[in-house]
Amino acid sequence: MDWGMKNRISKIIRPQDGRCVMLAVDHGYFLGPTEKLENASRVIKPLLPHIDSLMITRGVLRTSVNPSVEIPIVLRVSGGSSIVGEDLSNESTTTSIEDALRVNATCLATSIFVGSKYEYQTLTNLAKLVDEGEKFGIPILAVTAVGKEMTRDYRYLALACRIAAELGAHIVKTYYCDNFEKVVEGCPIPVVIAGGKKLSNELDALQLAYNAVHHGAAGVDMGRNIWQSEYPVGMVKAVRAIVHDNYEVKEANQILATEKEIRTPSTVNTTNAVNTT
Ligand code: R5P
Repeated sequence: MDWGMKNRISKIIRPQDGRCVMLAVDHGYFLGPTEKLENASRVIKPLLPHIDSLMITRGVLRTSVNPSVEIPIVLRVSGGSSIVGEDLSNESTTTSIEDALRVNATCLATSIFVGSKYEYQTLTNLAKLVDEGEKFGIPILAVTAVGKEMTRDYRYLALACRIAAELGAHIVKTYYCDNFEKVVEGCPIPVVIAGGKKLSNELDALQLAYNAVHHGAAGVDMGRNIWQSEYPVGMVKAVRAIVHDNYEVKEANQILATEKEIRTPSTVNTTNAVNTT
């Protein structure tokens, strides 16, 4: 592997512990102005000090992130379908390698839809993107998107992750599942997990991150469970503590609890209130 490729991967997955905290804010590429991500700039800015990399499209990068940002960019380069369209799996590569280089992307991300109507198309998209990335030393993150007709179990996810690795992806993003260690075992590249839909309980989201890294994940690429929380900074700090500092869920939740106390105006007012009654 070339120096440039190794260097870029080391920006995404920390060599110190082999783990990563990636923040996903690319949802708009097929979901439009996703709830609580309507103003991407406002969402992203306070989270930047707590993440290792940012997964984003070129449009939102250019419009909503200051170019002096020090966080490496994982550029979403697949798309072409929408939530109201005929089939989400009908994706192609939507950003050229030249434009990815122009925005100084550290890694490129593309979805694969194994078992879907457009399986062949999305798998060959990945293979071609790997060829392009290899020319310039840019790693590829394959995202194992799961169609409605597929089950998110370890057999399916292991199949999708292994295929991604076989086609040359350098990192794969998938979902956590029972027997997750079997997904990791059958996949020779680092596996990171998506958070999925916002869970009603923050503790469950922290438990998900904990379970994933304790069953072999190289970290997280989470979105909604962080920025749809009432306390996104607290959530990202708590997730980071689990991924990089080996915190237990309860300890990480304490970080979130502290953040809630700091940021809840009523608490501040109560603490400083002068009793006038
Ligand atoms: C989905 O295709 C998007 O690429 C998201 O980046 C991914 O689902 C991770 O975000 P979340 O944790 O919200 O599921």
